[in-house]
Amino acid sequence: MYYYKDNPNIIVFDHPLLKHKITLMRDENTGTNEFRKMVEEIAMLMGYEALNDLPTENVTVKTPIETCESPVISGKKLVVVPILRAGLGMVEGILHLVPSAKVGHIGLYRDPETHQPHEYYCKLPSSLEERLIVVTDPMLATGGSGTAAVDFIKQHGGKHIKFLSIIAAPEGIEALAKAHPDIQIYVAQVDRELNKDAYICPGLGDAGDRIFGTK
Ligand code: PRP
Ligand code: URA
Repeated sequence: MYYYKDNPNIIVFDHPLLKHKITLMRDENTGTNEFRKMVEEIAMLMGYEALNDLPTENVTVKTPIETCESPVISGKKLVVVPILRAGLGMVEGILHLVPSAKVGHIGLYRDPETHQPHEYYCKLPSSLEERLIVVTDPMLATGGSGTAAVDFIKQHGGKHIKFLSIIAAPEGIEALAKAHPDIQIYVAQVDRELNKDAYICPGLGDAGDRIFGTK
């Protein structure tokens, strides 16, 4: 892993296994089933690293040999917040790691002409201010959707936010980090640039369509 432009809040995972899986995802011949599996696996691998600072507390446990003090995850339940639709593909990966997590949803779509995000759904758990919130979206392109989603979460009281995205454009990372310098942004790949339609190049196309087999 490395810090993007030396910013310790922007973590890029450059693990060979992630790179390999991203290459499979990019391939236009990769079908829906395999694509979906890759998104879930990558989310789990990223989540494992991104959650390496979860707080713990000791409990007493009796092993077959003796009684000891041993750590468990402490604090209020974590919340996963996928940005609909494509972020949904990453949820199961995180839930494999933290099965008791709550799941909120933020529905946003990009206007095809202006590329601006439009909200159509928002449902978040209570006591957000006391919880760690993991926002998922495989693509960080202009950063408009990510920024809007974090805005909503903060309006609902969320404070401790980690944003997980598989492929990012430099423009998107910079926009999100500028709008929300207090959150941690984790990406597995920084691609070259956006094209005139605000798609990531080389990217993988429309993540939502590829996960759900639409279009
Ligand atoms: C995609 C993607 C992100 C957004 C990224 O969603 O899943 O949410 O675009 O672009 P941005 O950084 O420029 O905002 P889209 O709006 O296509 O909706 P979908 O997931 O329903 O397909
Ligand atoms: N959304 C996607 O799904 N793909 C892109 O390349 C940009 C935004």
